Amino acid sequence: MADQRILPTVEDTEALGRELAADLRAGDLVVLDGPLGAGKTALTRGIAAGLGVEGRVSSPTFIIARQHRAGPRPGAIALVHVDAYRLGGDLDELDALDLDTDLDDAVVVVEWGLGVVEHLADRHLRVLLRREPESDTRTATWEWVSPT
Ligand SMILES: Nc1ncnc2c1ncn2[C@@H]1O[C@H](COP(=O)(O)OP(=O)(O)OP(=O)(O)O)[C@@H](O)[C@H]1O
Ligand SMILES: [Mg+2]
Repeated sequence: MADQRILPTVEDTEALGRELAADLRAGDLVVLDGPLGAGKTALTRGIAAGLGVEGRVSSPTFIIARQHRAGPRPGAIALVHVDAYRLGGDLDELDALDLDTDLDDAVVVVEWGLGVVEHLADRHLRVLLRREPESDTRTATWEWVSPT
């Protein structure tokens, strides 16, 4: 069963990210879907805060993947933030990025990742963000999915 929440403000979206991060472990994959401006990067900012990473989260659009080291807090986990829009649907390109971060040591969050990166893990947390017309309100739906 998917969980669902109404998110009236960007702060609510970031707070959901922090909550989701509490259940994430190194090696986990998170796939974010939703239209332009739906709040995928805002949610990632909350996840990053929850994981305790260094550096400011911004849209990875022009660099494909941004790596954030785990900060000094005990239990902090590194984050790799990917924009799959730029991966162009090439399933193996994430490996080819040759990141400094070992993906097993980080949480990997992929914007626009639906149908592109699921094969990289035996399960992933899928988060769908919807936008109400002429309103700031977003609706998030999320669940752990194992592709068959
Ligand atoms: N309830 C809300 N949740 C998330 N963002 C909101 C909300 N209300 C307003 N916003 C605003 O909407 C924008 C969301 O932008 P964000 O970059 O997170 O979207 P995105 O899905 O990553 O877009 P893109 O597809 O371009 O990467 C921000 O400017 C944010 O302040
Ligand atoms: Mg974004």
